[in-house]
Amino acid sequence: MVLGRLAMFVALFASQLGNAAVVKRSELFDGGECGEEAHAALRLAFHDAIGFSTSGTGGGADGSILAFNSTELAYVIRFESRTTSIDDIIARQWPVFTKTNLTAGDFLHLAAAVGVANCPGSPQLPYSFGHSVTDILARMADAGFVAAEVVWLLASHSIGDANKIDPSIPGTPFDSCVNTLSHCSDTQFFLEVLLQGTAFPGNGGQSGEVLSPLAGEMRLQSDFAFSQDSRTACFWQEAVNAQSFIMGKFEAAMAKMQLLGQSGLTDCSDVIPVPATFTNNIQYPASFNQSNVQIACTTTPFPSLATVAGPAPTVSPVPQS
Ligand SMILES: *[C@@H]1O[C@H](CO)[C@@H](O)[C@H](O)[C@H]1NC(C)=O
Ligand SMILES: *[C@@H]1O[C@H](CO)[C@@H](O)[C@H](O)[C@H]1NC(C)=O
Ligand SMILES: *[C@@H]1O[C@H](CO)[C@@H](O)[C@H](O)[C@H]1NC(C)=O
Repeated sequence: MVLGRLAMFVALFASQLGNAAVVKRSELFDGGECGEEAHAALRLAFHDAIGFSTSGTGGGADGSILAFNSTELAYVIRFESRTTSIDDIIARQWPVFTKTNLTAGDFLHLAAAVGVANCPGSPQLPYSFGHSVTDILARMADAGFVAAEVVWLLASHSIGDANKIDPSIPGTPFDSCVNTLSHCSDTQFFLEVLLQGTAFPGNGGQSGEVLSPLAGEMRLQSDFAFSQDSRTACFWQEAVNAQSFIMGKFEAAMAKMQLLGQSGLTDCSDVIPVPATFTNNIQYPASFNQSNVQIACTTTPFPSLATVAGPAPTVSPVPQS
């Protein structure tokens, strides 16, 4: 029963990430019992989270106990001498985890919450998805950036392309606004990350990549997570077709980043060429409309956009210099 629930949750969250998850019913929790495995999953979640220290070391509830099990277990050993069942549950969870395409943090804390639900009389534990977002926001907060600024900095992906994620398709862009030589610095990226993903470009799905909506386009798992997470979804949506707003915010966040830990620099901005402007409204790629948008911000209406005419495009790679 409960394993059915785990499989369902994993399928649900993984499908939010653009993947169909397959976790067999009998794979965890002694076949659905409130037994040693359910208890051990909870202990694992505890040790993962308590590895966090307010003095700045340790990542907290990030799944690192699972992902970096050999180094993190050293800490558990200092904390508590009986570690046998921690080793055992890591060994049991590892093969299931690697099949789910979830981040270690999302998987481990999901497994604990579902495992505890096997036990009559236990509370229904809350579960928050999006540990990669939590990790990135925490790291950026430590450097002085708030969630909105992290989203604005991701405007950089509108002019980015991936070379290493799938080495078989170097120069694969993250949005469709590319011409023969270059990207455009517009907000098409923020729109396209929200479109339902249907396929992987190149050689199948790679680590850090989720399904993208257009042939020849790559979507990063972390970009999609930011677009859907309640802490960042409205900042993401706010960027769609807001060219001058995003130009200003991106510039300010970049300026802040350049000055981190620096002092006494001389402002030489006048040596930087003035970029060409982009004033058009962005449009849905041909064949898409608002019914394809995975809207995650419900407090403001989604902007109304036209659709490019014709059949769905195939995005060309950016030539490598
Ligand atoms: C620990 O993680 C590695 C991958 O880094 C994995 O191969 C190994 O099986 C894990 N150990 C256990 C006990 O699960
Ligand atoms: C995980 O991703 C790989 C590559 O994208 C895919 O082949 C596999 O089916 C996915 N697994 C699940 C459980 O979604
Ligand atoms: C989107 O396009 C589909 C056909 O591709 C159409 O059925 C649907 O009404 C359109 N939805 C919107 C909101 O325009």
